Amino acid sequence: MPGDSGASQRAAMYGADDLSSMAIFSGNYINFGYWQDFTRGRISVDERTESQANLYRTVLRRLEIASTDVALEVGCGIAVGTVLALREFNPSGVYGLDLSHDQLERATRVNSELIARQPDRLVLQQGSALKLPYPAETFDKCYSVEAAQHFEDLAVFASESHRVLKSGGRLAVATFFMTHPTAATDLRRLIETIGSGIDVVAAIDSFRDDLLAAGFVDVQVESIGEYVWPGFDAWIAQTEFKDRWSRNWLKAYHRRLIDYYLVTADKNEI
Ligand SMILES: C[S@@+](CC[C@H](N)C(=O)[O-])C[C@H]1O[C@@H](n2cnc3c(N)ncnc32)[C@H](O)[C@@H]1O
Repeated sequence: MPGDSGASQRAAMYGADDLSSMAIFSGNYINFGYWQDFTRGRISVDERTESQANLYRTVLRRLEIASTDVALEVGCGIAVGTVLALREFNPSGVYGLDLSHDQLERATRVNSELIARQPDRLVLQQGSALKLPYPAETFDKCYSVEAAQHFEDLAVFASESHRVLKSGGRLAVATFFMTHPTAATDLRRLIETIGSGIDVVAAIDSFRDDLLAAGFVDVQVESIGEYVWPGFDAWIAQTEFKDRWSRNWLKAYHRRLIDYYLVTADKNEI
């Protein structure tokens, strides 16, 4: 939609258009997936769903969640990953936050049974990554899966996530970033969602600098692209007759313009 702002396109995409209903995604997840033992061949919908759950598991393992922890997920979408955190990593509670009212409605519907049974352990809320609706020092852990590519100002997100974490808390963020700032022009041409402003991809070094400037320490940046792009591209190839999702992502990765990263950072103990 040329001329339309990124924000209004995102609102439509996660609103009435319901991105999760496209064949490219499954199981109420909306991410590219983590394909640990990927081998070429026919991929089932269950395997595709598992790849998306595995991206969550990869991120959540890094958080070293304790049973007394309260965690925050920023950009939780339909909150199936929020529930996975609760079921498989057993924190005392998880908050799922998303900007989109429609996503929150879907999340509440899909997880209604769990919310009714354990209202203190799973809390879903509408709000922005750039203005987290929580007091300082609320959470032990904070994480975000394939949402930060939509945050218009990562420096603000870095300082907001630092503010809401308790001292000794940890942040983990997984999504795609430019490998270097000079990739922007080529990426806008290659990837429609970047060209249109739906994805506002930053350069990975600039996000690292934002985290350090916000006060985080021990910032670790790991490329996990080898486990994301080939598997995701194979799934695109299988579903492109339905969705026409671009296959230029893998091309951009091979040309070292973009990569998928898992970034962790700690808030110092006082
Ligand atoms: C690609 S989806 C990922 C959803 C989920 N994390 C998953 O992996 O299934 C991105 C999500 O980020 C949310 N989002 C975008 N911008 C946001 C912001 N500024 N604050 C909070 N959530 C945001 C969108 O509404 C959408 O639900």
